[in-house]
Amino acid sequence: MMKSNNLLEVKNIVYAYGQVTAVDGVSFALVDKDSLGLVGESGSGKSTLGRCIAGLLKPQRGRILYRGHVINGQLHKEIQLVFQDSFAALNPRMKVGSLVEEGLIINRNGNKEERRRKVREVLQTVGIDPELISRFPHQLSGGQRQRVALARTLILNPRLLILDEPVSSLDVTTGMRLLSLLRDLKFKHNLAYIFISHDLAVVRQICRRVAVMYAGKIVELGDVEAVFSRPAHFYTKLLLEAHPIPDPEQRKVIEIRGEAVDLLSPPSGCRFHPRCLAADQRCRRVPPPFIKVADNHKAACHKAL
Ligand SMILES: Nc1ncnc2c1ncn2[C@@H]1O[C@H](COP(=O)(O)OP(=O)(O)OP(=O)(O)O)[C@@H](O)[C@H]1O
Ligand code: SF4
Ligand SMILES: [Mg+2]
Repeated sequence: MMKSNNLLEVKNIVYAYGQVTAVDGVSFALVDKDSLGLVGESGSGKSTLGRCIAGLLKPQRGRILYRGHVINGQLHKEIQLVFQDSFAALNPRMKVGSLVEEGLIINRNGNKEERRRKVREVLQTVGIDPELISRFPHQLSGGQRQRVALARTLILNPRLLILDEPVSSLDVTTGMRLLSLLRDLKFKHNLAYIFISHDLAVVRQICRRVAVMYAGKIVELGDVEAVFSRPAHFYTKLLLEAHPIPDPEQRKVIEIRGEAVDLLSPPSGCRFHPRCLAADQRCRRVPPPFIKVADNHKAACHKAL
């Protein structure tokens, strides 16, 4: 078998909730320390994809490889997920110290003394005063809770963090501070990121590459600068028109004209055709292949070239 340099490889995965196919044949790869933004409107399958990679959901088809090993449906210590809403993700009856320590206990890592020291260290790393160690989640601000959620993952020395809208529940200033922490952590700890966001400006700040999802598929993938300055897919063009890039102070949810796709019976051919001003007969009949439009830049559109 050829050895690849990829940290993560996602090969043609499909995940359906009953009749609803939320992720429908998604493939991409990630090298070590890379950062990939995942954008697309609500319901396009971003979180489902993130949960599949984190091992919380098991794809019905396709393969997810981490360092060359298939990990479908398995949790991996080095892959950690941070949710948008850590209030829901943090056990309300546990104190900060125990919340952060939990992963170490589960992984039988160190004795009590060592664990305590690590908890303090990691809390400092994420900018939480270790004095807060005996607070409960409801006694923290939204920003502090996100930092505690981050500390819970960092204590396990992850290599890949999946950040699912990590700042969208926060006010602008708190969100910016957390983003700047995330940027620092990435370099200090050599992390790779999959960064799910509605916010194109934030993706541009944090990520090297970006994948645009539409109705369960990746429709465009490439370096952030290339995709944002020379979008090839008509959906990406529309996204960028709706969000002329971007004043980072401005937070908007991605919403563009036309009706959301009914995933129970997705449109034939190109799924975007009912909303695409350039659609023709072929678009309505033939699913567009994912083709190279430039170096490190691909799109699934008949008219991308
Ligand atoms: N637990 C579930 N049961 C049934 N359907 C679900 C479930 N979770 C998500 N879905 C459906 O799967 C599709 C993809 O949802 P997903 O949450 O992955 O999208 P998303 O891109 O993360 O959206 P958002 O931007 O709103 O977070 C949607 O149609 C959604 O309704
Ligand atoms: S394949 Fe056709 S319908 Fe789809 S985005 Fe391209 S031009 Fe529009
Ligand atoms: Mg989501």
